Amino acid sequence: MSSSPLTNVTVAGGTGVLGFHIVEALLNDGSFNVKVLRRLPKTANEKAELLASKGAEIIYADYNQHDDLVQVLSGTDALISAAAPGVANGGYDFDALQTPLLNAAKAAGVRRFIPSEFGTETQLGDHPMTDTKATFRQKVKESGLEYTFIITGTFAEYLGWVGFDIKNKTAKFYVDGTSALAVTSLSDIGKYTAETLKLEESRNATIRIAGSMFPLNEILKLFEEATGSKWEVTVDKEIKHRYENKIDPVPSQMEVFVAAISEKGSFGNIDNNKFSFSPRPLADDIAVIVQQASG
Ligand SMILES: NC(=O)c1ccc[n+]([C@@H]2O[C@H](COP(=O)([O-])OP(=O)(O)OC[C@H]3O[C@@H](n4cnc5c(N)ncnc54)[C@H](OP(=O)(O)O)[C@@H]3O)[C@@H](O)[C@H]2O)c1
Repeated sequence: MSSSPLTNVTVAGGTGVLGFHIVEALLNDGSFNVKVLRRLPKTANEKAELLASKGAEIIYADYNQHDDLVQVLSGTDALISAAAPGVANGGYDFDALQTPLLNAAKAAGVRRFIPSEFGTETQLGDHPMTDTKATFRQKVKESGLEYTFIITGTFAEYLGWVGFDIKNKTAKFYVDGTSALAVTSLSDIGKYTAETLKLEESRNATIRIAGSMFPLNEILKLFEEATGSKWEVTVDKEIKHRYENKIDPVPSQMEVFVAAISEKGSFGNIDNNKFSFSPRPLADDIAVIVQQASG
């Protein structure tokens, strides 16, 4: 049974690294009324100004004031959370940020909630930072709201973060170079997310998209081609062991996180073919990333 369109869309965290691209894609689509939910107190923000100039309405609320949030969300059909609290105190306090949004969405009569996933497909127990997302998924399911969990793999623009160091022409792998890594550009994630709202199969579903899913060695070749030089590669599969047993050099928590993400770098049941467009080739993304790094 098809349901009425999700026309009124609010994006929490729409000023963020990813959120901006989601809002842009919704606006470019032309069929949505788009609001960007920002935190109080009001602060100047160039991205918010740009999105407002393109037609988004910028709204504000104190995330800790339930009634405030309910009020600003009233009339919203779909709430997309692209909000992220950042990595603070060695942890990722995801739940404390997302739960007020979920509760307020429910109270405001929002129909669909898209939580701030946009990563790789992890299970409970993979890593404390991803566990917060896995636990929250369960809360979303139990809320009774419609939901879509969007799995994207690593942001193309974040390949440096998973070990590809353009400046030093080195790569550090935490798994074998033959292991695949799903990678999607921010602008394609924005477009997929917008289109998900029109896709019947996305109701109460996990949607998995990937701009590419190449072995790390292939991604390395693309970087070598784009930089015109041979890169030095190290493979370190002992991160978790060294961290847990405090063996020198003891890795940082962030490195343990990256190692965990690398182990879960790819996933199956890709939904790309349900969408109207093809993602940008990874070689094109890498060319841009390399150009920006050297510019
Ligand atoms: N797959 C990947 O490679 C990858 C990489 C990075 C992130 N991610 C995921 O993508 C999602 C979005 O991440 P992002 O990096 O785009 O987010 P971000 O830019 O760090 O933050 C997004 C927005 O959240 C709001 N925000 C920041 N701190 C907050 C707080 N303490 N409480 C409430 N709102 C806060 C801010 O908006 P206002 O100031 O306007 O309120 C900010 O612009 C997250 O789920 C993250 O885990 C995935």
